[in-house]
Amino acid sequence: MNGKTPHIVQYQGSKRKLAPQILQYMPKHFNRLIEPFSGMAAITIATAMEHRANFYVINDLNQPLVEILTQVVHHPSQLADEYRKIWNEQFDYGEHHAEHFYMIREKFNHGQKNAANLLYLIARCVKGAVRYAENGNFNQSPDKRRHGTNPDTLEKNLCAISHLLKGKTAFFSLDYHEIFEMAHQGDLVYIDPPYQGVTNGKDSRYYSGVSFDEFAESIQLLNRKHIDYLISYDGICGEKEYGKDLPESLGCKKILLNAGLSSQSTLLGKKSVTFESLYISQSLILKQLPLTEVTA
Ligand SMILES: C[S@@+](CC[C@H](N)C(=O)[O-])C[C@H]1O[C@@H](n2cnc3c(N)ncnc32)[C@H](O)[C@@H]1O
Repeated sequence: MNGKTPHIVQYQGSKRKLAPQILQYMPKHFNRLIEPFSGMAAITIATAMEHRANFYVINDLNQPLVEILTQVVHHPSQLADEYRKIWNEQFDYGEHHAEHFYMIREKFNHGQKNAANLLYLIARCVKGAVRYAENGNFNQSPDKRRHGTNPDTLEKNLCAISHLLKGKTAFFSLDYHEIFEMAHQGDLVYIDPPYQGVTNGKDSRYYSGVSFDEFAESIQLLNRKHIDYLISYDGICGEKEYGKDLPESLGCKKILLNAGLSSQSTLLGKKSVTFESLYISQSLILKQLPLTEVTA
């Protein structure tokens, strides 16, 4: 398929913009792409655009999020229609359209955890940044300046994604450990856990924390099974470095990807470039991927 890579809606932490750089470190072709922390599955979609894998495994602990992805692949027009109905309703509220967002949020939090409601909440909330309270309720606020992705644009994107992934994708909503267990040689695991800054503290940006030590230990399991993997793990913005490095004993090569100007620093009148780290498994390095670009 030619043309632009389709996407669902803006999702904070999405690797959509970094995908072309990340894909450079994948083999030209492999059996399954496994995404244990899929979010909106930007890397799965970009990989499928290039027909790099035979099969795709999408997983995220956030079950309603996986429901969105499942619907996108199996019933894209139906999901877009449900979204369109919700999206249109906001205009009945005139300039008070934020009230409509709060009404849908209330419905979602009180039982109607369906894909269309969550899709609308993500499309309309501040920076596509999902936030959950300790009781599991979605508690992000609406972006009052936007109405959220237009349903016609959304439908085109969803149908394109369905076309790429239908019949070759499995969906799970499990803890990442269980997904690691499923990996075999010949698969590639792309690992994008929540940022360390938000994993152990009270920040509710993601569903669950991922402890550093436990995470490093699970990566050793992939090493023992000689499985190819890539890990996106925190980064550097200007002088500020986020998170600690993964242990050297894992034998990975760390490179820095240029993620462009940080919107935060641009707002503050500074111009700092953000770099995001990518760890390449030893097994992949041995496959002689673009080693000239692997700088350390
Ligand atoms: C940085 S985001 C991934 C973004 C994704 N690469 C994209 O392009 O949209 C991390 C994801 O990990 C999920 N998550 C958090 N803890 C998890 C766990 N223990 N197991 C599986 N997924 C988890 C979160 O719900 C979140 O969607």
